[in-house]
Amino acid sequence: MLRCIERPILVHVLVLALCVSAGDDDFHWTKNERGPFHYGTFPTGFSWGAGSSAYQTEGAWNIDGKGMSIWDAFAHTKGKIYLNDTGDSSCDGYYKFKDDVNLMKDMKLNHYRFSISWPRILPNGLKSEHINEKGMKYYDDLINHLLDNKITPIVTLYHWDLPQVLEERYGGWQNISMVNYFNDFANLCFERFGNRVKYWITFNNPWSVAVEGYETGEHAPGLKLRGTGAYKAAHHIIKAHAKVWHTYDTQWRSKQKGFVGMSVSADWGEPVDLSNQRDIEAAERYVQFYMGWFATPIFNGDYPQVMKDYVGRKSAQQGLGVSRLPVFSPQEKSYVKGTCDFLGIGHFTTRYITQKNYPSGRGSSYFTDRDLVELVDPRWPDPGSEWLYSVPWGFRRLLNFIKTQYGNPMIYVTENGVSEKMQCTELCDDWRMLYFRDYINEMLKAINDGVNVKGYTAWSLLDKFEWDEGYSERFGLYYVDFRSKNKPRYPKASVQYYKRIISSNGFPNQREVESWKRKAGELCSSSNQLLAADPLIGHMEMVSEIVVPTVCTLCILLSAVFLMFLLRIRF
Ligand code: NOJ
Repeated sequence: MLRCIERPILVHVLVLALCVSAGDDDFHWTKNERGPFHYGTFPTGFSWGAGSSAYQTEGAWNIDGKGMSIWDAFAHTKGKIYLNDTGDSSCDGYYKFKDDVNLMKDMKLNHYRFSISWPRILPNGLKSEHINEKGMKYYDDLINHLLDNKITPIVTLYHWDLPQVLEERYGGWQNISMVNYFNDFANLCFERFGNRVKYWITFNNPWSVAVEGYETGEHAPGLKLRGTGAYKAAHHIIKAHAKVWHTYDTQWRSKQKGFVGMSVSADWGEPVDLSNQRDIEAAERYVQFYMGWFATPIFNGDYPQVMKDYVGRKSAQQGLGVSRLPVFSPQEKSYVKGTCDFLGIGHFTTRYITQKNYPSGRGSSYFTDRDLVELVDPRWPDPGSEWLYSVPWGFRRLLNFIKTQYGNPMIYVTENGVSEKMQCTELCDDWRMLYFRDYINEMLKAINDGVNVKGYTAWSLLDKFEWDEGYSERFGLYYVDFRSKNKPRYPKASVQYYKRIISSNGFPNQREVESWKRKAGELCSSSNQLLAADPLIGHMEMVSEIVVPTVCTLCILLSAVFLMFLLRIRF
């Protein structure tokens, strides 16, 4: 039984069909081998990490000369974020980065993925106007501290926090001028940090920037330019990425010897009925409109053919003279092609996909352009975010698809993880341990299939601001107590579990792996007790920080009044 995501539809029965023959370089849609759990280890040198992003964790939104980002402005607008939460202080990562590096060290992480806040270092967005040295120092210190602890920084340049000035003055990613401004910002980062940072991600999840920022308006800057806004934003983002890659390639690569990639969001789409060619085509469209939209231009030089066909046809049916999907000129195609040293993958979940014809008459939108319906199997676990179902086998399918589409590129998994609801203060997160175990195992199988995955980043190191969902969805390995002024971090059981995967570089054997969950569970109950005591600690903090000083001040005042009174009586 499948549950429909968008609207009710006849339930399709999933039938495994005979394998249709395909060349070695083609993706075998009909061959979905699930297989049992695989015991084995990862290649030597495989990099294990955890991730975060600036707006989600740093806080200090207006400290030390930082400018405003579109997310500051958006979150400060009532009604945009769940419970009107903001990232104003979040985890206070700006102040607590040394503590956080200690957590990473304890887990023996090989890398840490974080992002640089553009307005923290360029408050007006423009390099020509003002460089905020205090902001630069923060990232300098963070990078140095990571390296001192033998943790490789993987740095994202754009994790959604565009300087607000650029949105106000130019319309943000709707405007081609962002390409040069972003390039100036990136160039400054290469110049100042590139002697120590070797892995650069230009854009994180550009799909969300384009669709949620400029099509549905759920994310900053909150524009609803349906059917056009997302395509235009994406076009400029791809060009900006290419420009930054060329800047690195021509000006810095020979000295700094690093890599520049993009991190795309890539959930998997599985045909509902593997014996139905139309379902297979719909599933491929889902993946192409999602990941392929960005990955195909930067590897192959143009948008996926299926996007050009579908958006073009719909635009024509709507009486438009040109497609709503912008076009790359021949020069732009060759400029954009091959601008990816590695592909970053943010993967969380899977959908079943089936064909659906949306009438193209009224209104246009990215979603109706795709002509498909997303379904989920209600048996899939969904412990946290509404959209996030745990479907580990989809991960292996996705990774194999990437291998066939883009010539087996170097891949870093830049995000993978699962959330829980805000109310949940349970640190013994069994479901997260299972999620990590099974997703990481599917990644191992994909590596054995020949996919070139070099590193894995658990999302995320800490609980943090989850965009329009505020603090209601917790993705962290570490629980953050946002109620407490100090924002203490508590390890969830999955910290212990992930540590064991890291120290074994995989899954050594059944007996050992089976003992991990139990051992992690034993440790987390003491953390649970600490967390339970936290309101008490918070109460004690209040007593020592507010009540005691207030009472003392009152006593001093009263004594002074009393003394004056005595003196008056005497004289
Ligand atoms: C992808 C985004 O890049 C990240 O910031 C977010 O926390 C995760 N999705 C989970 O929603």
